[in-house]
Amino acid sequence: YFEHRGVPFPRLLYSPRGLEAAREFAVEDDDIFNVTYPKSGDPSAPAGTVWMLEILSLILSDGDPRWCRSVPNWERGPWLETLGGLRRARGTPRPRLISSHLPVQLFPRAAFGSSAKVGPLGPGARRSPQAQGGLCGVPVPTVPFGSWFDHVQGWLQLLGSSNFFCISYEELQQDLRGSVERLCSFLGRRLSAAALDAVVANSSFGAMRGNPMSNFSRAPLGILDLRRGPFLRKGISGDWKNHLTPEQSLRFDRLCRQRLAGLGGSFPWDPPPHP
Ligand code: A3P
Repeated sequence: YFEHRGVPFPRLLYSPRGLEAAREFAVEDDDIFNVTYPKSGDPSAPAGTVWMLEILSLILSDGDPRWCRSVPNWERGPWLETLGGLRRARGTPRPRLISSHLPVQLFPRAAFGSSAKVGPLGPGARRSPQAQGGLCGVPVPTVPFGSWFDHVQGWLQLLGSSNFFCISYEELQQDLRGSVERLCSFLGRRLSAAALDAVVANSSFGAMRGNPMSNFSRAPLGILDLRRGPFLRKGISGDWKNHLTPEQSLRFDRLCRQRLAGLGGSFPWDPPPHP
C-alpha cells in the first residue's frame, strides 16, 4: 500500500501519477460515473459496483444485451483511477460510462462544475469488518481506499444535487425494475416497457454469472484469482450475519448512527431507533 493525500491505495493497480491524472481528468457534460466503495474481497459487504455497471451498460443500449455480452465490463466502464482505465476512458465513445472507487476529495475536479451524472453510491458495505477495523482504531493501511464512513460521508454531501444519484445494493435487491426506472429518469433516458424488461432480465444475478464479460472469468490471474471463488458469489444482502458477531454488529450500528447522522440519506438497512 501507499498513501496518497491521506488515503491508502494498493500498489498493484494504482500509482500517485494515475491518481493525480484522474483528478485532472477532462470531464464531459454527458459523462456518467459509477462511483462505489470497493467491496475489497470482503464477502460480507457487496457494494454492487459491477451490478450497477451492467445496469448502466444495458440502459445505454436500450436493453440490448449485445454490448454486455461482447465487451468485458472493465472496458465498458473503465476505471478512472488506474492509468490503463484512464487511457481507455479518454478513448471511449460518448456518452462515456466511467467507474470509480475514489473518495470525493480525489475525484476529478472538473466533475463538480459540469453536468456529468454521478452515481450511485453503494452503502451495502456498511457491516464490512474491514471498515469496522478502520473505525475502531485498528491501523488502516490495509483498507484500500480508506474508511467506508469517510467515503460515504464525503459523497453524501452532494445529496440533493441534480446530477447526483444515490442507491444501495439493498434497494436494487428489493426492487430492481423500480430502481432501473429511477435511474432512467435520472439519466434522462426514456426506455420502452420491453426495453426495461430486457434491462432487468439481463442484469439478473443468473444472467451476469453466466456472462463471461461480466463474471470476470476473463480477468488476468494477477488481478483477480477466481480459483479462490467466483466474483459473483451469493448475490444476496445480509450475509454479514454470517461474518459478524451480534456484538460487532451492534457496535457498527452505533458507529453508523454517530458518523452518518444528519447527512439526510435514508438507508434501507437503517437500524430501529434506540429507546
Ligand atoms: P457476493 O460476493 O455477496 O455474491 P462489487 O461489484 O461492488 O464488488 O460487489 C460484488 C457483489 O455484488 C457480489 O456479492 C456479487 O454477487 C453482487 N452482485 C453482482 N451482480 C449482482 C446481481 N445481478 N444480483 C445480485 N448481486 C449481484
